[in-house]
Amino acid sequence: MFNSQTISTRGLLAAAIIGSASAYSIPRDTFTPTIKGTPQVLGLVSDPSLNRDSCGSVRFQTRDFWTCRDTQVNDAQGRPGGGTVSSTAAFTPFSFDGTPYIEETNIIRMTGESSEPFYHMTNEQCSACNQCNGNTAGACTDGKSRYALWPDSPPMVTEGQFEGQVTAYTWIRNQRIEGLTLLQNNPSAALHKITYDPFNPDPKALPSVSVVNQDFCPEGSFAYGSYGNMVNNGVAYLYAKADDNGKPIALAKVPADSVEDKSKYQYWVGDSWTSEQPSISDKNAHLVNAGAGGQGTYYYYEPWGRYVWIGQAGISISAEFFITTATEPQGPWSEPKLLYKGVDGNATLPAYSLQAHPTLRPGSRNEVYLTYSKVDRWDGVELDVYSTPLIRIEWE
Ligand SMILES: *[C@@H]1O[C@H](CO)[C@@H](O)[C@H](O)[C@H]1NC(C)=O
Repeated sequence: MFNSQTISTRGLLAAAIIGSASAYSIPRDTFTPTIKGTPQVLGLVSDPSLNRDSCGSVRFQTRDFWTCRDTQVNDAQGRPGGGTVSSTAAFTPFSFDGTPYIEETNIIRMTGESSEPFYHMTNEQCSACNQCNGNTAGACTDGKSRYALWPDSPPMVTEGQFEGQVTAYTWIRNQRIEGLTLLQNNPSAALHKITYDPFNPDPKALPSVSVVNQDFCPEGSFAYGSYGNMVNNGVAYLYAKADDNGKPIALAKVPADSVEDKSKYQYWVGDSWTSEQPSISDKNAHLVNAGAGGQGTYYYYEPWGRYVWIGQAGISISAEFFITTATEPQGPWSEPKLLYKGVDGNATLPAYSLQAHPTLRPGSRNEVYLTYSKVDRWDGVELDVYSTPLIRIEWE
């Protein structure tokens, strides 16, 4: 799908012409992450009263904060049925040693109100007007389509991860789907802002969410931040994946304290950062190997001095976690390698939304936690039951 040859040739050319090292003259990363021992499935991240999929998480100080996609209420037998809510959120606790707290029944318990979508649908004037927000699923009156405001990544914390008030952001594409088919490629994306008061006395209280700008990334442009994001050294790195052929990935950066200010954004195009936003078709903006193509997580990992992406391959529906690394956020990224294979479910879409949880790790530990949505069929009935296995990987 991508030609890595193009990159190295361009790097060589640039080096020859300018006579100095260009960014691309950095060789592709050959670092090999090595797993120590056998990865352990620690339990299921769950609110047993709910059936929810596609969860990601980020540390909000003394608890881990999770956002998920479609959520249904289970009946007394655990059978999913109740109406669909397009996104919900919850907290899970940590143990005294800073690791996720696992109950005796192997549950990492999620707590949070779930009757309304966590990320608001809107009917304000915008390019994606009237997001069929008369119901919690975003179902439209045509009876077949819906606005699925699904987070692809957990919130990106820009302030207060360890103390003080928390500020975080999420970019969500204003996508309308029929079945699982997008009705329009490269829809606009909204910037959602999350604020959290850690001193709120109500343990069940969820953070507040507001829409900063419904059309923050206009329709037809890269939706920077929605495919993945991370903050390192005060800079937010925001990845976009377009719907066009080859599903190209592009990168923008902005000071983490200026996420709402479009004028401070810079874009990686060719061999350098520029303040001019490239079009989706600009091949110079396309990153090579910055992920394996499916859903995943970017983060900076200090002990390796590297940027890391862990997630699913582009056309996969199995729990195969791929990993790629780079010494710079724009790459060159290594060839994605298979890291770990989890157990697939027995439903039509057995496994998706593969995620890493870099902030679920106590700072001192040489490890990473992974989750995915495992989808099983309820016995004898056409119902999908989602679960979220939590896996711990220790590094050599
Ligand atoms: C699918 O997996 C679930 C959960 O393990 C199990 O209860 C169910 O019987 C399985 N269904 C089929 C058709 O194998």
